Amino acid sequence: MTQDEMKKAVALAAIEYVKDVPIIGVGTGSTANFFIDALADMKHLFDGAVASSVASAERLKSHGIPVYDLNAVDSVPVYVDGADEANAELALIKGGGGALTREKIIAAVAEKFICIADKSKLVPILGGFPLPIEVLPMARSHVGRAMVKLEGDPVYREDFVTDNGNIILDVYNLNITNPERLEQEINNITGVVTNGLFAQRPADVLLLGSEQGVETIIA
Ligand code: A5P
Repeated sequence: MTQDEMKKAVALAAIEYVKDVPIIGVGTGSTANFFIDALADMKHLFDGAVASSVASAERLKSHGIPVYDLNAVDSVPVYVDGADEANAELALIKGGGGALTREKIIAAVAEKFICIADKSKLVPILGGFPLPIEVLPMARSHVGRAMVKLEGDPVYREDFVTDNGNIILDVYNLNITNPERLEQEINNITGVVTNGLFAQRPADVLLLGSEQGVETIIA
């Protein structure tokens, strides 16, 4: 099974969690794209979606799926999204595609967060994947210096602007043994919009794709 076949398998498995759900929270990235495409086949069964990025909103609309502003919906029963890394507690690193802030907002609202990923994303300790931080442009150097104090190596993501008009610092070489604490600590740095650690609000379910099929992991 190729990596794409694993991504497609977990995306299809996630469909089971959104049957009878009127408003579906939809994430961003290549795995989420397989989920969006799978939703197209059942679009008559739900009212619409809220999207964690402009790119996902466009893809949903291209399938004729209505996309709602998050403020216009009463609740998001289920949110389905990929991840760059996950640990056994289902804390995640997200934001490889730069959509971390909107992803974190939808995850905060969602009653259930289903993470879909191929097996390469499950790691014993988070931090092998550089941690993305969305930063207000004028605070770039300030936040970079603060991350060096936290023993990370921040790299400015060149030629990239988030959907919210901000920049991304990708922080390398963090050995994240306490994701919840680090998430809080980074969010306390002035100028940070949010960081890609999803530990205070982890996933509820991880659907992990491998050659053997789809494994369901519940923290
Ligand atoms: C987008 O900003 C990210 O959080 C994605 O969810 C994450 O990068 C996973 O993307 P892939 O499914 O493309 O690996």
